[in-house]
Amino acid sequence: MRDVAIVAAGMTQFGELWELSLRDLFVEAALEALRNARVDHLDAIYVGNMSGGQFVGQEHVGPLMADHLGMRGVPTTRVESACASGGVALRSAFFEVASGMSDLVLAAGVEKMNDGADVTNVLATAADQETEVYHGITFPGLYAMIARAHMQAHGTTLEDLAAVSVKNHRHGAMNPKAQFRQEVTMEQVMASSLVADPLRLLHCSPVSDGAAAVLLCPLSRAREFTDRPVKIRASGFATGSMALADRPDPAFLDAVSLASGRAYEMAHLGPAQIDVAEVHDCFAIAEICVLEALCFTERGRGAQAARTGETTLGGRLPVNTSGGLKSKGHPVGATGVAQVIEIFEQLRGEAGDRQVKDAAVGLAQNMGGSGASSVVHIFERV
Ligand code: COA
Repeated sequence: MRDVAIVAAGMTQFGELWELSLRDLFVEAALEALRNARVDHLDAIYVGNMSGGQFVGQEHVGPLMADHLGMRGVPTTRVESACASGGVALRSAFFEVASGMSDLVLAAGVEKMNDGADVTNVLATAADQETEVYHGITFPGLYAMIARAHMQAHGTTLEDLAAVSVKNHRHGAMNPKAQFRQEVTMEQVMASSLVADPLRLLHCSPVSDGAAAVLLCPLSRAREFTDRPVKIRASGFATGSMALADRPDPAFLDAVSLASGRAYEMAHLGPAQIDVAEVHDCFAIAEICVLEALCFTERGRGAQAARTGETTLGGRLPVNTSGGLKSKGHPVGATGVAQVIEIFEQLRGEAGDRQVKDAAVGLAQNMGGSGASSVVHIFERV
């Protein structure tokens, strides 16, 4: 396998973008990445997209995106793994370059959620239809059950959940691309409207439109395109049980644990060597569970991390410096690639007010459904 680098990135604003269609979003992000690398051709494109068919009636997303990017003829594959689609698109692009098959590959993600679709029902298609959705559960409902299980097993409190939102909004307030750029207080989170007990509005990621793209090439060619390449050290991917009820411990994310174990092994390093991480905080409880599954904290102790400041900028291990899904927004198919862009910028020293001092190794964790799929990438400053 060849070493692979990310040499450029492009990303739209995240938010309710009524003036931009699915293709507009993709083209804006992709063109920015190509322009930054001064590249006018590609060997392949991978596009993470969870549900173009249901959100905007658009399937066959691959050729549509290549066509509108001015890249007709380029092999383009749409990748789907629910909210982990973007992360899995990156993994596919990584393999294609690492294998020696292609040199210049774009990994992108795009989702247009605000266009009139019944978003809650579309998102629910990423859960188990027969054992969960037919019975009325929604995604906030599933994560509410995970939260209850965590509270019961580990004494996690409503304040612990709120601290995650406060932290991520604090970070997101410094991110010009974020959907919600305002800080929130513990009191505001605790008083926000109840969505699925115990989860409130300000514990939830929003409904978002957006796209993100990164350009990959062999590390040996990276200096042709940038003087600050970022190496992809490892990619780990795993699946877990689809239905929450089939998990031995609903408060533990087995697929995240498996995927990160594979990534740490491939990178020959452990959680203690990570300087900055982007994790899948689709709901505040998800960040807490993910920290435990990534072995950033002991099992049962993830809830303390945000409250004690460990995961805040300036803390031991800053997590979700972009604002996370909570504040930056969560256009589901784009999220995995946007997480990678935050790590890319951190490792290049380009994160501005959000910069983690001397960040050399970063991790991005992206997750599908209530944790039935997860992909973890580890990156290194070159
Ligand atoms: N965080 C902060 N503010 C939010 C928000 C969020 N997640 N979602 C909406 N808002 C704001 C809106 O901007 C709006 O503010 P305004 O009145 O100042 O304009 C207000 O709250 C009401 O917005 P609305 O769109 O009516 O909210 P809603 O009740 O329809 O939706 C949720 C709120 C939480 C149900 C929705 O955001 C949601 O479903 N989130 C989860 C998405 C999800 O499951 N993703 C997949 C994860 S696996």
